[in-house]
Amino acid sequence: MKTQVCIIGGGPSGLMLSQLLHLKGIDTVVLERQSRAYVLGRIRAGVLEHGFAELMREAQCGERMDNEGEIHGGFHISNNGDMKRVDINKYSGGNSVVVYGQTELTRDLYEARDRMNGIVIHNVEDVKLHDLKAEKPHVTYRDGDDIIRIDCDYVIGADGFHGPSRKSIPSDVLKEYEKVYPFGWLGVLSRTKPVSDELIYAKHDRGFALCSLRSQVLSRYYIQVPLSDTVEDWSDDEFWTELRRRLPQEVADKLETGPSIEKSIAPLRSFVAEPMRYGNLFLAGDAAHIVPPTGARGLNSAASDIYYLYHAMLGHYLKGDDSGLEAYSQKALARVWKAQRFSWWMTSMLHTFPDNIEYDRRLQEIEMEYLFSSEAAMSSLAENYVGLPF
Ligand code: APR
Ligand code: PHB
Repeated sequence: MKTQVCIIGGGPSGLMLSQLLHLKGIDTVVLERQSRAYVLGRIRAGVLEHGFAELMREAQCGERMDNEGEIHGGFHISNNGDMKRVDINKYSGGNSVVVYGQTELTRDLYEARDRMNGIVIHNVEDVKLHDLKAEKPHVTYRDGDDIIRIDCDYVIGADGFHGPSRKSIPSDVLKEYEKVYPFGWLGVLSRTKPVSDELIYAKHDRGFALCSLRSQVLSRYYIQVPLSDTVEDWSDDEFWTELRRRLPQEVADKLETGPSIEKSIAPLRSFVAEPMRYGNLFLAGDAAHIVPPTGARGLNSAASDIYYLYHAMLGHYLKGDDSGLEAYSQKALARVWKAQRFSWWMTSMLHTFPDNIEYDRRLQEIEMEYLFSSEAAMSSLAENYVGLPF
């Protein structure tokens, strides 16, 4: 098989790039290890920054997002029960975010790929990247007993944190930065009316909690839990009781509860791999960087990678200009690190850290006080939350 751009990974990053390139006549093949049902069964976060929403529209798959997604111009931060609103619309110069589940977004991207007869091959095994430094790289995968070879100009590693792409970069070239937080988020999805129209990020001595939503009949809640906890340690009742404790009284009182339709624990991790290019391999999204979910930056850091790569590929194929490809790693990493900084800041301010000394706890309090007393601090939060420009 032959293609121009071989994309490894059929998550949001890989599908979005494939869709954008196809619309400009650039040929791609997407290789995905899992079945489509499996990919669409994964529950992921649900806040899209303005720039990502624009990219969905450019990819001609923004229709359902625009109809069903909710525009949010603010959210709330609660500090041990004392809740205040963050007006991101006002402090970001009129910007907002779209609340729309990443699972739905991935479904829209798959449907768009189907409409255009895009090639997405599922259930591929043993994906291997070859000759990345040569003029023409190739990728192989196993289908039953057959080894299939794909010749291409470029390989895109959009295969998430555990995929083979990043691991194909020699260890003396690749530098990895990692911070693992000493807690996770226990998340519950329930078919209940969301407790609040806008998200609530709740800092509490018992641990952080978040009230989010997917629609007016589907709620998503999280509580901070020790890394040693498992899903089995938490019955639905225990979850709701603990969530209530961490919310302001007036919110807890109106919390509608119900059976969980999904319950999982996600560890909190920050990770960056540099560089994001090796020869003709370009990394994008979770393959190159991970953020803790606190600042809702996960998908949004992937968005700028895709935007830069898309334009770099257009430069190469439509204008014979490789400057975008040359600049990719540096440009993408500059924005990635800013998203890391913001996610680290939100995470540090809002969580309970087991090893914090009294001094750290006072600083956390002051951080919050400063935020709500300074327009400059609010603007900094708002511009990062809606997404820094690409
Ligand atoms: N071969 C082919 N595909 C693979 C392989 C492999 N060996 N390993 C992993 N994959 C696939 C995964 O099954 C997954 O569908 O790559 C895809 C990567 O998708 P994501 O993990 O969703 O990563 P990405 O597309 O970059 O999306 C980033 O997802 O995890 C969130 O917070 C993150 O919101 C962000 C978004
Ligand atoms: C979610 O809805 O899953 C969600 C929202 C905001 C976050 C993280 C997760 O910061």
